[in-house]
Amino acid sequence: MVINMSIFNVIEKRRSIRSYLDENVNEDDLKKIVDTGKIAPIAGEFQITVVQNKDLIQKINDVALDTMKNSGNEFLESRAAIPGYQPLYGAPTLILLSAPEENIYGALTTSAAAENIILAATALEYGTCYAITPTLPFISPAGDEIAKELGLPEGFKVLIGVLIGKADESEEIAERAELDNINYVK
Ligand SMILES: Cc1cc2nc3c(=O)[nH]c(=O)nc-3n(C[C@H](O)[C@H](O)[C@H](O)COP(=O)(O)O)c2cc1C
Repeated sequence: MVINMSIFNVIEKRRSIRSYLDENVNEDDLKKIVDTGKIAPIAGEFQITVVQNKDLIQKINDVALDTMKNSGNEFLESRAAIPGYQPLYGAPTLILLSAPEENIYGALTTSAAAENIILAATALEYGTCYAITPTLPFISPAGDEIAKELGLPEGFKVLIGVLIGKADESEEIAERAELDNINYVK
C-alpha cells in the first residue's frame, strides 16, 4: 500500500473514532506507529504499554465504565448512562502512556508521544481516539492488580490512552466547530 498524505492531510483527516471493526492492527504497522511515540519531545521517563490482550482490554473497559458510573462527575456519569456505552469502543488495540508519579511534566510528555502515535496511525489509515477513560481504572481499587498485569513500571501513573483499530465507517462523525482561538502578536 502506497500512502501519500502530507502531514497537513493527516492532521486534517484525524478524528476521534468511537466504533471499531473486530480486526487488529497489522504487526508491522503497529511497530511503526508505536515507535513514533519514542521520538516525540520528551521531558523525563515515560512508558508506552501496548495492550492487545482482549480479556485485559475488556477488563479495563468494564472497570472504567464502573468508575465513570460512580464518579460523582456529571459529565462522566451522563456518558456512562448512554445505553450500550463502552468507554473503549471495542478498539482492538489500546496504548497506555504512563510516567513517574513525581514527574510534573509526565502528562505533557505522554501527550506529545500520544499525538505522534495518533498521527502515524492516521497516516496508515487506522482510526484512533485519544482518551482519558482508559486511565480511570488506575484510580479505582482494581487499579493495582491491572497495573501488575500490564507490567507497568513501579511508581508510574497512567496518564492517557490511545485507541487504535480499523474504523467502523458506518459511524457518523460530527462536524467539528470552527474555533476562533488564534491571535497573532507581531
Ligand atoms: C484530554 C482529552 C481527553 C479526552 N478523552 C476522551 C475520552 O475519554 N473519550 C472520548 O471518546 N474522547 C476523548 N477525547 C477526544 C475529544 O472528545 C475529541 O478530540 C473532541 O471532541 C474533538 O473531536 P475530534 O477528535 O474528532 O476532532 C479527549 C480529548 C482530550 C484532549
